[in-house]
Amino acid sequence: MTDGSEERRDDLGADASAEWLSQIAAAPDAQALQELRVRLIGKKGEITQQLKQLGKLDPDERREQGQRINALKGRVEEAIEARKAELERQRLDAQLASERVDVTLPGTRPTQSGLHLLTLVTNRLLDVFRSLGYEVVTGPELETDHYNFTALNFPPDHPARDTQDTFWTTDGRLLRTHTSPMQVRYMEAHKPPFKLVVPGKVFRNEAVDVTHEAQFHQLEALVVGERITMADLRGAINEMAQALIGPGTKTRLQPTYFPFVEPGAEFAIWWTNPRTGREEWLELGGCGMVHPKVFEAVGYEGVTGFAFGFGIERLALVPYAIPDIRYFYQGDMRVLEQFRGVL
Ligand code: PHE
Repeated sequence: MTDGSEERRDDLGADASAEWLSQIAAAPDAQALQELRVRLIGKKGEITQQLKQLGKLDPDERREQGQRINALKGRVEEAIEARKAELERQRLDAQLASERVDVTLPGTRPTQSGLHLLTLVTNRLLDVFRSLGYEVVTGPELETDHYNFTALNFPPDHPARDTQDTFWTTDGRLLRTHTSPMQVRYMEAHKPPFKLVVPGKVFRNEAVDVTHEAQFHQLEALVVGERITMADLRGAINEMAQALIGPGTKTRLQPTYFPFVEPGAEFAIWWTNPRTGREEWLELGGCGMVHPKVFEAVGYEGVTGFAFGFGIERLALVPYAIPDIRYFYQGDMRVLEQFRGVL
């Protein structure tokens, strides 16, 4: 045993094995670990080589060295397994950390849509009337002369047919010029008593300017029953005014003429114009007691009733300082976005 095998045995001693074990423990990844495995205990690995050398030793030394080398091999195998498990755990931890989702972060909000200002104002009005027990109904925009005029006591030659600047169709029908025709349609189909409101589009062949559009919206109200009086009309208008503007809001009726009411009036609400900060009358629309001729046209007897109707744009134009009524219908996002979430 002079060919350096003494030295070799020293290589396989405690120092060498400690070095290997620390290399294993520090292997940076699975590939480095695999290289160490091949280098140490692979077919041509250093420890394998040592085991192969055992045959050359005499029996006593073979047993001693054999035990030692096998024990070392066992420790190396264990260390490799341990490092392998550790690397796998680190890989998992890293993956978990990189894929982590903080579910407590606020979510990405989808672009929020919103209702058109006129829809918001209309909904608010309908809420007020529903809470007062009114039914909400809608009616056709394409009307007949009968419902729009005749049944509402407009005489055949009445200038209102011209002054309301009606859009006629070629078959003699028309785009309704107000929501009042629904008074007649509803009365034909129902028996009193009842309370209803009718929101909807109306059309007038007007020269379009900042306060006039060929199309706008009205809200009509009709209440019919026994002993309905002008006081009930005033009460309804007051309730609406107080619900819209606040307790104690004053209202005003001034006599005027509509063929389908008698007496007839135009009505206004006292309010602080949010645009100017000034208190003033907001002229809303027309009202009155249902004309006996209208009841006659629908075959009602022994009842009275009131009606009122007004333009919804007025309620939106004035408080929101909209300078031009045409903005309502142009679909310009710069206008529409300003009214997201108002009311
Ligand atoms: N329909 C009328 C208009 O458009 C308003 C009105 C409704 C008047 C109900 C009296 C009663 O001008």
